[in-house]
Amino acid sequence: MNFQIQIEGAEATFQCGSEETLIDAAARQGIALPYSCRKGVCGNCQGQVTVGSLVPGTEGCSPEAGASAADEHLFCKARPASDLSIRPRSWYRVDPSAIKTFSARVFRITQVADDVSILQLRFATGVRVKFRAGQYLQILLPDGQRRSYSMANAPHESDTVQLHVRHVPGGTFSDKVLQTLKPGDTLKLELPHGDFWLREDSGRPIIMVAGGTGFAPMRSMIEHMIRKKIQVPVHLFWGVREPSSHYAADLIERWQQQLTNFTYQAVTSSGLRALDTQGYRGSLTEAVLACGLNVPDCDVYACGALGMIDSLRTALCNDLGLAAEHFYSDAFVSN
Ligand SMILES: Cc1cc2nc3c(=O)[nH]c(=O)nc-3n(C[C@H](O)[C@H](O)[C@H](O)COP(=O)(O)OP(=O)(O)OC[C@H]3O[C@@H](n4cnc5c(N)ncnc54)[C@H](O)[C@@H]3O)c2cc1C
Ligand code: FES
Repeated sequence: MNFQIQIEGAEATFQCGSEETLIDAAARQGIALPYSCRKGVCGNCQGQVTVGSLVPGTEGCSPEAGASAADEHLFCKARPASDLSIRPRSWYRVDPSAIKTFSARVFRITQVADDVSILQLRFATGVRVKFRAGQYLQILLPDGQRRSYSMANAPHESDTVQLHVRHVPGGTFSDKVLQTLKPGDTLKLELPHGDFWLREDSGRPIIMVAGGTGFAPMRSMIEHMIRKKIQVPVHLFWGVREPSSHYAADLIERWQQQLTNFTYQAVTSSGLRALDTQGYRGSLTEAVLACGLNVPDCDVYACGALGMIDSLRTALCNDLGLAAEHFYSDAFVSN
């Protein structure tokens, strides 16, 4: 049975069956609601149901996604049991056919750190993909599983995608499949996905906080800003465990020359004290707090482990007063 879902205060409605999630039904009908993990972990899809009821067991928030008010629900899990009026954090119209499946060939695989490889894929001649700087794709594995990776290249490089893959011990894709991949092999991809993309018209200074391979979408956004000559101040914090895992020193040096208003803070959570001169030693949240930026005036983009994002959101939004709508994140949780 189909129910009518009304976005409160807007001339926007969509139909949703009780077997479908609100996020999926909205997307199918050209309405993008915020999401990231789609598995009830990151909390990015949280919104309110102001009228109507949900299928029992699909309402509320999982403890992993954080505590919330009684009428807050995860729209990537929520399924309707009646007509609803909903209040998402944001929404916009999209072309429902924008998410497409592509075949891509492996062009190059480069191991850039002990636990990170850069996978460069190319599309067939004449095939171009569309995405926003910061979004992610899903690799469709032959057994039906999916794995999410953020595009590290800027959208104007539309005949290729660059992925920064952290090697997860025992991981189906990043350990087993990646080891066997060689140039010329084909992968099936679906893109674009996600609400983590550069709000280029905002005009506010930007704080980017990357944990490990969370650097990938920041690379996409910064390359896009250079291409589009977007000149707001950018403060990049990049945290890794060991200094040797900062695998893009040359690139960051180029950004320092190309962008007039760019600062970079390397952050390591371990390492020898003698290496302290190479960056801040501690957590990413501590590093951002220590820098003295006027956080409430900025747009913050955070990407990496869920714990880092939660700690940063609490410190910047709850403690420093950054409005939640200026905190954008992709939590790199398992698929
Ligand atoms: C929106 C989004 C974007 C992402 N972008 C990137 C990216 O650009 N680069 C990147 O390296 N990763 C990224 N990730 C994370 C990546 O998709 C997962 O780590 C993925 O599960 C790895 O697949 P795998 O087959 O190698 O390991 P799996 O077979 O999925 O996992 C093997 C084991 O490791 C655990 N595990 C896997 N990943 C994680 C994790 N991140 N944290 C904790 N435990 C984990 C699993 O629970 C499982 O027990 C992204 C995730 C999301 C949701
Ligand atoms: S919790 Fe719903 S998208 Fe992550």
